Formats: sequence, structure tokens, C-alpha cells
Amino acid sequence: MKTPTAPSPRLASRIDKLTGSVARDILSRTQDKEIISFAGGLPDASLWRDLKLPEVPPSAFQYGPSEGERSLREILARRSKGLGLPANADTTLITSGSQQGLDLAAKLILEPGTPIILEAPSYLAAIQVFKLFQADLHSLPLDSEGICPRALDRLLNETQAPVIYLNPTFQNPSGTSYSLERRKQIAAVLDKHATLLLEDDPYRDIAYDAPPPPPIASFLQTSPWIYLASVSKTLIPGLRLGSLTCSPELFSPLLKLKQAADLHSNRPAQFIATQMLADPAVNQARIDGLCQHYRQKRDLMQTLLAAHFSGLASWEVPSGGMFFWLRFTQRIDLAQALNDTLSRGVAFMPGAPFFADPEDVGTSMRLNFSLVSPERMEEGIRILAAVVRDLHQTAACAESAS
Ligand SMILES: Cc1ncc(COP(=O)(O)O)c(C=O)c1O
Repeated sequence: MKTPTAPSPRLASRIDKLTGSVARDILSRTQDKEIISFAGGLPDASLWRDLKLPEVPPSAFQYGPSEGERSLREILARRSKGLGLPANADTTLITSGSQQGLDLAAKLILEPGTPIILEAPSYLAAIQVFKLFQADLHSLPLDSEGICPRALDRLLNETQAPVIYLNPTFQNPSGTSYSLERRKQIAAVLDKHATLLLEDDPYRDIAYDAPPPPPIASFLQTSPWIYLASVSKTLIPGLRLGSLTCSPELFSPLLKLKQAADLHSNRPAQFIATQMLADPAVNQARIDGLCQHYRQKRDLMQTLLAAHFSGLASWEVPSGGMFFWLRFTQRIDLAQALNDTLSRGVAFMPGAPFFADPEDVGTSMRLNFSLVSPERMEEGIRILAAVVRDLHQTAACAESAS
């Protein structure tokens, strides 16, 4: 007798556009403790070794306001205001990580076919969200100071895109931080076209050299804006807390979207974050310590890259954030490279998933330096370079034979 097969459930057409996260796939192959992982964007867990969390009172166990706890909204709004944004607690929404801010913003703005402009490369989980909402993605290349304002003006004329997504400070994945001049020029172009700016800024506080220039949103005169921040990179990502600050007219629909998504963010987590962020001096001292710790790791990775990758790739030393972005001098098979390095206990992120348009994809690799201990970083970079060198040689042989 034939066993009946269950009929496939009919799913929404947008599910076809839902790509899995490459980073998560690689990370799931790296749960093994022996793997040296440069793949994710994970903070160094050793920073939490002696961390004492405040005790959460039972009053935080009840359902709470969708906007988030007033005291935390005030702290985060003060921070945004200090960066020059016209922000206050009333237009600040606590989100479940800044990733939820991306989801809510996408739901607010995007319909199937809505043009959206982003950087090439761009944050891959933002690309994932915009594709889910079936947006029409247009990319602009990044140079060392950001995207080109004139190219942006042209693309806005051409596409009439109502929204642009930028991560202008210590960008994930490239590490690029836009210059002050570029920020002002881009804001002027956005004002000219009345384009909504979705600015994602989770790495701002992890600055190794000078403090970064203010957010682009702070230079806007008339255009609407949404500014996303997060406690994930500087406090604890497991709290899953971020914030969204926006032009006043956008707050009410975003709040309704938040209610529809999850009623409100985790209250015990908000209590903990409020206690830990309450004293600005204590918080600044903690961030200074964290930057000092990551600066040493960045410098070590730069030394190791200079020793092992010269001639194989080019890169810039990031002035903040958590990533080096390597561009290879020769086209190599990075899927093969990843298989080879994983079999030797090392993970990295190939560059391709950070590009919305396959035409833009060159051969590049993102390396995270915040997670791996200094002792293991040297071994990992040595293995990576050996695999890449082998593939370079294979590619060079194939080229000369053809
Ligand atoms: C640019 C960018 N935006 C948003 C996020 C999401 O951060 P979270 O949801 O943990 O705040 C990340 C995390 O890596 C990121 O790199």
C-alpha cells in the first residue's frame, strides 16, 4: 500500500525570497570549540567573565509598554541627542536588537518593487530583510570615505528610491567610516530628493583612533530619518536590545508595527541594561576598556595580515568596529577556500553575500578580530593564508595555461 504524502502547505510568495543567513550557516559549522572563527561579528566573551548583572526585581516580570521602559528610552535618547540628532525619549523605541529596527523599518517603507539604495558591500542581514520584502535593491560602491554623493544624486534621479540604507560608521563588513565632508554632502543630496535615511549605527562606540563624525541623520534638514543603535556590540548581545529613534511623524506607525511584531521587548533585559548604562562615567570607562582590548586585537591582526597576506590581498586598517575586509589580487574560489580552511579548523566569511547585486561581487573576505583570542589568531591567519596562497597558485596556473 502506498503511504500518502502530506500536501505541501501553501506559503506566502515572499518566502521564496527568504535567503538563509550564510553567516549563521558557517557559524553552525563552527559550534565545535576547536574552530578558530573569524566568521561572525561576535564580541569577546572573555569581557564578561567577571561581569555581575544586577538582580532583576519581580516588577520587571509583568508585560510592559510597547515603546520600552521610560528610563532606558531616556538614557538612549540622551545619547542620540549628544550625537546631534533631534531626539527625545518620546521618539525613541526600544527594539529587540537593532535587527528588529531593520525589520520594522522595512515593513514601514517597502512594498514589492520599492526601490531602495544601499552600499556595496552592505550588511548581509539587512539585504536579507529587504529581499524578504521584495524591494528593488540598487547598490553604490564604497570608497575609503563612503559612497559618492554625485553617484547617489544620479541614482536617486534614475530610481526615485524613497529610502536609502547606510551603515556609515565602521561599516559591517568593510570597516569603512565616512568622512565628515561626505556625511554632510550625502545629507544634502537626501534633502534634495526627500529620501528617507535608514541609518544603522551599532559600531559607533568601538572607535580606536579619533571619535567618528556625527551620524548622517544629524545633518538632515528636511528628509525623514530612522536611526538604529544597539547595545549588542558594547554591552551584551544576548540581551537582544537596540533602539530606534526617528523623525516624529514616523514614530506612531513604527510603534504599531512593534506591537504587531512582539508587543514589547524583554523587560528583565531592559532593567539590566538600564542599570548598567545609568551612570555615564561608569559606562564610558567600560567602553574605554573594551576599545583598548579590541584595539590590541586589531593591531595584532594587522601585523599578522601584513606578515602573511602581502601580495595576496589588499585591505585598509579599520579605525573602529570589528572587521578587516580583504580584496584578493586574483579571483579565487572562496567556497573551496572555506571548505579547506574549515577542514583545518578555521572559519571566515566570503565576501559575496554582502553584495545585493551579483555583478558587484569581486573576490573578498571579511575577517572578524573581536572574538578569537590573541593566542589562536596567529595560528588561524597562518592557516588561512596557506589555503589562499595554494588557491592563488592554482588560479595563476590555470590562467597561464589558457
Ligand atoms: C550593521 C549591523 N546592523 C545590525 C546588526 C544587528 O545587531 P543586533 O540585532 O544584535 O543589535 C548587526 C549585527 O551584527 C550589524 O552588524
